[in-house]
Amino acid sequence: MRREKGKRERSSSVRPDAGFRRIKPEAIKDNPFQAMEGDWFLLTAGDLKNYNTMTCGWGAWGVLWSRPAVFVFVRPTRHTYAFINKNDTFTVCFFSKRYRQALQFCGTHSGRDCDKAAETGLSPARASNGSVFFKQARLVLECRKIYQQDLDPGLFLDPDIGKCYPQKDYHRMYVGQVTKVLYRKQES
Ligand SMILES: Cc1cc2nc3c(=O)[nH]c(=O)nc-3n(C[C@H](O)[C@H](O)[C@H](O)COP(=O)(O)O)c2cc1C
Repeated sequence: MRREKGKRERSSSVRPDAGFRRIKPEAIKDNPFQAMEGDWFLLTAGDLKNYNTMTCGWGAWGVLWSRPAVFVFVRPTRHTYAFINKNDTFTVCFFSKRYRQALQFCGTHSGRDCDKAAETGLSPARASNGSVFFKQARLVLECRKIYQQDLDPGLFLDPDIGKCYPQKDYHRMYVGQVTKVLYRKQES
């Protein structure tokens, strides 16, 4: 059966990850130092009906317990904190430089007060792990939460680290097992 031109694009059955190709975690070419603190990323937890996203600049990816893993750090004061605690999955999305303003917005406004997707024009979509990613992302890491721990200031070995916490709102660290990696086929 011949498909009418453009029909697939209009169909509601278009997969949310159309436009992306799946790669293995070990095929990620990005430099993590640049991707994390240099480019920032969006950390998103919840499902399409009820999710929140925030900008992060601190984090890591690598291997733990022989699994590909992402490490993210969320202060308890963030609206996202409740979402990542309540849900078993989350996503980490990286963007090209043209979305810098959108990430700036998501890192300086709270989901308690606004709809970040509506304000930035970012398009949320259902990730295959039930969480939410953004269609404009250039790199998406779908994660399953496998560990969490509150940072203990008593264990800081360099006293300067304490200066990052004038409000004593120590991060909670989450380790996510990377279950899927998507790279955008073309620059959005
Ligand atoms: C560049 C940048 C990096 C940030 N990195 C983090 C981070 O790693 N962890 C964190 O808890 N907050 C971080 N923030 C702050 C949150 O993104 C910010 O407080 C956001 O408004 C929280 O949104 P929410 O209340 O909707 O969760 C960062 C903000 C910016 C601008």
